[in-house]
Amino acid sequence: ESHIEGDLVNILFTEEQIQSRLGELAAEIEAEYEGKDILLVGVLRGAVMVMADLARHFSRHLEMDWMAVSSYGSGTKSSGVVRILKDLDTDISGRHVIIVEDIIDTGLTLSWLVSNLTSRAPASVEICTLLRKPEALQMSVDVKWVGYDIPNEFVVGYGLDYAERYRNLRSIGTLAPHVYS
Ligand code: PRP
Ligand code: MN
Ligand code: MG
Repeated sequence: ESHIEGDLVNILFTEEQIQSRLGELAAEIEAEYEGKDILLVGVLRGAVMVMADLARHFSRHLEMDWMAVSSYGSGTKSSGVVRILKDLDTDISGRHVIIVEDIIDTGLTLSWLVSNLTSRAPASVEICTLLRKPEALQMSVDVKWVGYDIPNEFVVGYGLDYAERYRNLRSIGTLAPHVYS
């Protein structure tokens, strides 16, 4: 079995670039939410790395909770079907919620999630995503914080998987064609 890094043909973002961008986003969010309690809601499983690192760039208190939803099968295409696999443990009514995602692809997952969370009467709901693919968007989603806009290519690493693999890469890149065959 080949080394995991060897399956990448092109590295889009290094560990250093990702961390530096997350630091900037955390600083912007801190400034925006001065005097307000923040609840970060991470979307399992892809957002685990973003959540862990974004949260540690904050110098203030915040809370974290998790939801598990799924819109992809095990392959590379969105199915459009969103399922709740694990709901929040937190009552978010009156809370300032920031959804944390690794990537917005078609936008189907997040547009569904935003309306689901909005129906629970939070004080506010915003989105912070590390990556977004503007060319792949099928639903308009109002995203307040975006790390990077990327081309419509399938990317893995730093939480992003191909058939559940590659999440543990520290960088983000595209897969070599031999991996798919
Ligand atoms: C991926 C990704 C986002 C979603 C984006 O999750 O982590 O949550 O798809 O796609 P969309 O904008 O087209 O809805 P996935 O469903 O693969 O689950 P995972 O996070 O467990 O990998
Ligand atoms: Mn996900
Ligand atoms: Mg996935």
